[in-house]
Amino acid sequence: MKVSIFGLGYVGAVTAGCLTKEGHTVVGVDVQAEKVASLAAGVSPIVEPGLGEMLADAAKNGLLSATQNHTDAVAATDVSLVCVGTPSAESGELNLQYVRQVVGQIADAVRASGKSHDLVLRSTMLPGSTQKIADELLADLHESEKLRLFFYPEFLREGTAVADFEDPSLAVVGTRDGSAFPTELAPLFGADAPSANWPGAEMVKYACNAFHATKVTFANEIGRIGKSLGIDSQSVMRLLCQDTRLNLSPYYLRPGNPFGGSCLPKDVRALVHEGRRGGVELPLLDSLLPSNEAHLAKLIEQAKRLAKGRVTLLGLSFKSDTDDLRESPMVEVAQHLIGRGFELGIYDPQLNLAKLIGTNKRVIDEKMPHLASLLTDDLAAALGQSGLVIAAQKCVDLDTLRPLITAEHTLLDVNGWPELRDLPGRYEGFCW
Ligand SMILES: NC(=O)c1ccc[n+]([C@@H]2O[C@H](COP(=O)([O-])OP(=O)(O)OC[C@H]3O[C@@H](n4cnc5c(N)ncnc54)[C@H](O)[C@@H]3O)[C@@H](O)[C@H]2O)c1
Repeated sequence: MKVSIFGLGYVGAVTAGCLTKEGHTVVGVDVQAEKVASLAAGVSPIVEPGLGEMLADAAKNGLLSATQNHTDAVAATDVSLVCVGTPSAESGELNLQYVRQVVGQIADAVRASGKSHDLVLRSTMLPGSTQKIADELLADLHESEKLRLFFYPEFLREGTAVADFEDPSLAVVGTRDGSAFPTELAPLFGADAPSANWPGAEMVKYACNAFHATKVTFANEIGRIGKSLGIDSQSVMRLLCQDTRLNLSPYYLRPGNPFGGSCLPKDVRALVHEGRRGGVELPLLDSLLPSNEAHLAKLIEQAKRLAKGRVTLLGLSFKSDTDDLRESPMVEVAQHLIGRGFELGIYDPQLNLAKLIGTNKRVIDEKMPHLASLLTDDLAAALGQSGLVIAAQKCVDLDTLRPLITAEHTLLDVNGWPELRDLPGRYEGFCW
């Protein structure tokens, strides 16, 4: 393929080297004359292991050129990759000035060339940015089908950028509506790269970086509290990483229910308290319970907004297949709904009040002494012909539920139960 690369910094220069190694022809473009001259001579404008040799080979083989002229670059290629910087403004806001500028220049060049062209944005941009750029700068080109626009986030890391490019940890291609990208672009994106819509692909990049920052901060906080307690946190974290079922896995990485139960809230509270006692600041760990409370408050607000008269809660305990009510977020939800005067029915086949003992029973006696009257085995009667169904857990199978749901029900899916979308009621996801 013939590819223009706009922005010859860390991302652009590495992309130029790696694409030429794969046999593509690359025209590099930058506003900085020194970077253009350097690339054209096959000399890397940045320090990155392995890149210098690739660029030298590419220049020798006639696969690499560079220019400051946007129009020439677009005219000579079929696809443009935008890799210019998106720095923070003083306020912290993302500065898209360079992306907008370069997209405007490419659009003008496409209009002038009369050819169709593909435009791939690689610079990191907040969700909604690609749509805004398409609407404000490219509407005529889209309408005349002269330009196809993709958002293709970059996940490489400086220092190992060449290896990351050749074997990416993740590739996702943002298309306007999330449909598959055209197969002729597979040499660029990789044949197996999944597609998402533009804002979804933009968000994946931020979610990844926020997750990486969270992991680093978490390990550092465990390190600080460990040091204060005389513990070798390197070995603690090594052991933590040995659990690839619950720790380093997709487990606990789905938006859904707030956490609860007898362990997580209590143990986070104790660890944060221990840190405070030793004078160790742990802002991340300290934020976990407030964040969980904010999540619960959002759920309660959403339930109150959707509720009209009758409400059925599917699942009261803190997770499915248990009767443990200690710190169960759904107990809070139920209390708020009762307080607001809604007619609440609770269906949770795991809960047998007669068998509850100890702390579990105390939760009921203290927080919901009238719970017995709200718990029901008769799901059909609880659901009636209309009302809000709060699906906190899959405590009923879909075949049982399906005939009981009418178009007058609203289904609030709290924990990711996508099949609820196929039932006759109105579906609303909690945080998706
Ligand atoms: N550096 C990384 O490791 C990395 C990894 C993933 C994603 N990203 C994202 O990729 C983007 C680029 O990052 P970078 O580190 O390569 O930036 P950089 O600052 O190193 O390079 C950006 C280049 O764009 C050039 N430029 C600015 N305006 C231009 C214009 N109108 N025409 C042509 N060139 C222009 C600049 O002169 C500069 O050489 C950013 O959005 C960044 O967040 C960076």
